[in-house]
Amino acid sequence: MNQTAEQQRFLQDVIDGLSQPQPEIPSKYLYDELGSALFEAICVTPEYYITRCDIEIHQQHAAAISRFLGTHVHLIEFGSGAGIKTRLLLESLQQPQAYTPIEISAAALQAAADVLRYQFPHLLVQPLQADYTQPINLQALDICPRCRRRVVYFPGSTIGNFTHAEARGFLSRIHDICSAARDGVHAGLLIGFDLLKSTDIMIPAYADAAGVTAAFNKNLLARINRELGADFDLAQWHHEARFNPVEQRMESYLVSAVAQQVSIAGRRFAFATGDDIHTENSHKYTLADFEAMAAEAGLKLQQYWMDAKGWFVTAYFELK
Ligand code: AVJ
Repeated sequence: MNQTAEQQRFLQDVIDGLSQPQPEIPSKYLYDELGSALFEAICVTPEYYITRCDIEIHQQHAAAISRFLGTHVHLIEFGSGAGIKTRLLLESLQQPQAYTPIEISAAALQAAADVLRYQFPHLLVQPLQADYTQPINLQALDICPRCRRRVVYFPGSTIGNFTHAEARGFLSRIHDICSAARDGVHAGLLIGFDLLKSTDIMIPAYADAAGVTAAFNKNLLARINRELGADFDLAQWHHEARFNPVEQRMESYLVSAVAQQVSIAGRRFAFATGDDIHTENSHKYTLADFEAMAAEAGLKLQQYWMDAKGWFVTAYFELK
């Protein structure tokens, strides 16, 4: 097989992950084209409340958020901004000036930028192709001399995928992006995160009855078969969502239904019945815990907004 550097990295990550005492595969590999489409489908299952709560906050509190952020905003989104939330936010802001989506996939970035330029003809849309889990080129963000506020935007509880250590590192890099704003320009972070709640609500959200989340998780094995020439038998694996009370997170697993062997690029991995592969974390926070974590990174909570059920938060932070 003639592999690209990307596929070699994927193969190495899969082999390293499956060789751990607790086998695991990094969750970023769930989001290939089909995986991203399946995630969109998860968002409309009755059990997955997160996206609906987040959109509700953007609709119900649009005026308050916009008053808080003020005029002439430069919005910097971590992610491509293809979704409805970015449009709702940009529609409610007063004279937003510039928009920088940051995203690793050039195709996703281009598609979202085209749509936004069409929807917001007065907005300077300047995409930045980069891995936002790594330090960002700060000069590339200096595109808006007339802007009065730089706002890093990270909706959807994507921060939930990060471990606490990763989330702290991530918030420090956001602190750096805010600090690099020109003199006299305000800078802050508008971020969505999911609140800790009853497992009666959280577990079904990650194991919907129609099996969309199961299909999303199992697509990871299908992708490994497709791209790395492995021979996972998809019928012999099932999806499981568990709450980890120590780490305060939902965890997704693929569980082996039988004793079986899998070969991946000439290597064999043996699984007993009930052995599992950890594929994703979705961390849940209390407002106080998130506030404390952000404070450690030098970010101070200014204001927050919730949905009517009080399940999800969109919060705005500025430099301390
Ligand atoms: C895209 C990371 C916000 O963790 O809730 C949903 C991903 N995985 N169901 C989440 C996901 C399974 C989702 N995030």
